[in-house]
Amino acid sequence: TDEAAGKLVSYSARLQRKATEQLIEMLTSGSERAFLLSLYVCVESESLEKLDLLTDIVVSKLNEVRLKPQIAYERMDAGLRSCAPLGYNLLNVGRNMTSSSLAATFPFVSAYLEPQPKGILFGENQLDGMPIICDIFSKSFENANGLVLGMSGSGKSFAVKTILSRALQQGIDMIVLDPSEEGEYEILTTSLGGRIIEFSEKSDAFINPFQITEQSYDEKLFFLHSLMRFFVSELTDEMKDLLDEAFESIYAKRGITHDPKTWGKEAPTLSDLYSYMEKERKSSFARRAEAATAVSSSLRRFVKGSFSFINKQTNIKKLDGRFITFKIGSLPKEVRRVMMFIILEFVYNRMRRDLRKKMLVVDEAWKLLQTESEEGYILNIVKTCRHHNMGLVLITQDVYDLLTSKAGKAVMANSSWQLLLRMKPSIIDDVAATFKLNETTKNYLLTAEPGSGLFFVNNTFIPLKNIVASDEYKLFTTHPEDRRVG
Ligand SMILES: Nc1ncnc2c1ncn2[C@@H]1O[C@H](COP(=O)(O)OP(=O)(O)OP(=O)(O)O)[C@@H](O)[C@H]1O
Ligand SMILES: [Mg+2]
Repeated sequence: TDEAAGKLVSYSARLQRKATEQLIEMLTSGSERAFLLSLYVCVESESLEKLDLLTDIVVSKLNEVRLKPQIAYERMDAGLRSCAPLGYNLLNVGRNMTSSSLAATFPFVSAYLEPQPKGILFGENQLDGMPIICDIFSKSFENANGLVLGMSGSGKSFAVKTILSRALQQGIDMIVLDPSEEGEYEILTTSLGGRIIEFSEKSDAFINPFQITEQSYDEKLFFLHSLMRFFVSELTDEMKDLLDEAFESIYAKRGITHDPKTWGKEAPTLSDLYSYMEKERKSSFARRAEAATAVSSSLRRFVKGSFSFINKQTNIKKLDGRFITFKIGSLPKEVRRVMMFIILEFVYNRMRRDLRKKMLVVDEAWKLLQTESEEGYILNIVKTCRHHNMGLVLITQDVYDLLTSKAGKAVMANSSWQLLLRMKPSIIDDVAATFKLNETTKNYLLTAEPGSGLFFVNNTFIPLKNIVASDEYKLFTTHPEDRRVG
């Protein structure tokens, strides 16, 4: 109006008018809404002096962001009641705000995971203290598989033990493959009423990898070929052909063929394969004899030597019980890897028919994946276990090897959730590149305390802290000091 009357109007008044017009337009068009906002800041302290000091700090911090707070002198009671989460606004001092300005006042923004009703408590969101409750078997996930990565001592096994004990309470069955020398899952298993199946040179549990149980004849052969990679590091085409013939022949000798009716017969053993190779060493074809010699010499100590306990018929009848731990840590290192693979196949096939939710935990999983090719048997399990309602949880400290190998990448692509714990500086850049981490999260992972890390799920990551009660701690710890005391 002043302008219309030909008077001089200040620049700031013109700007204000323009802003008001814009606001009216946004409100009428519905792109913004108007709110009345009251912002309370509650300052608490144990003494009056400290309270005054803290109040000054809070006021100056608010001034820094151009907020001018009013201290509620003489009306403290109404102020305190308004700060309680009861929905009272007793001081009723407010300011108009548009939707976008209001959104900007939310002080803490963090990735949020809607707690899922049948979920497992993975830990606490370090940004807002919210519990991270995730149902890995829900339909919103492609599969229930997970990966737990971090350096030694970062709390991988500990975190998995936490998850495992909570999952059991949610009705999820549990199978653990524990290759640690100290048998670190033993205390937990027995305390939770689980069963331990131990494989050692003295124990009397055996699995014959040649026995056909739930799988088909062809699947068994696929497995046996993968198994041979654990005995013979470099399998040539010549050896593969020879093995093909050998398998057919030793099964046929026991009356086992492609016909499912024959699969229940007593299976051949490693000895039969060894004898076949010994015979072929005398072959008149030089390359064939050479291949047979290589295979038979790598099998010899598993048949004749001190490792011959894997050369026996399966005597584990039933895998009943909700929690089973396979303990293999007292086996010599050379056999541990082979045994892990044999148990994995055994468990997987026994569990196929059973559609109850179950988790299969493999600690120190890199041992298994080391020799795995892209089309290998383990990846087949990783990709198909969801059909049997099984979630595979792989734990490894060999993060670099996992991230850079083809098999590792395939495992990663087929796991719905990942838990990254503290990482070594030497590999942090590779981790950051794989998981697209920024500098802050990189630094966080470099210095994270045991049990703290990043939880990746549904393309978001949440800084997580795994918090346990003291009773749980005693069951989960591997710290020598804790074990000495307890
Ligand atoms: N959430 C946690 N709260 C408290 N302490 C923890 C937590 N996680 C781990 N720790 C401590 O760290 C120790 C080592 O953890 P853990 O055995 O899980 O390491 P790891 O990552 O599995 O190492 P490795 O790769 O050598 O097996 C535990 O024994 C425990 O004392
Ligand atoms: Mg561990």
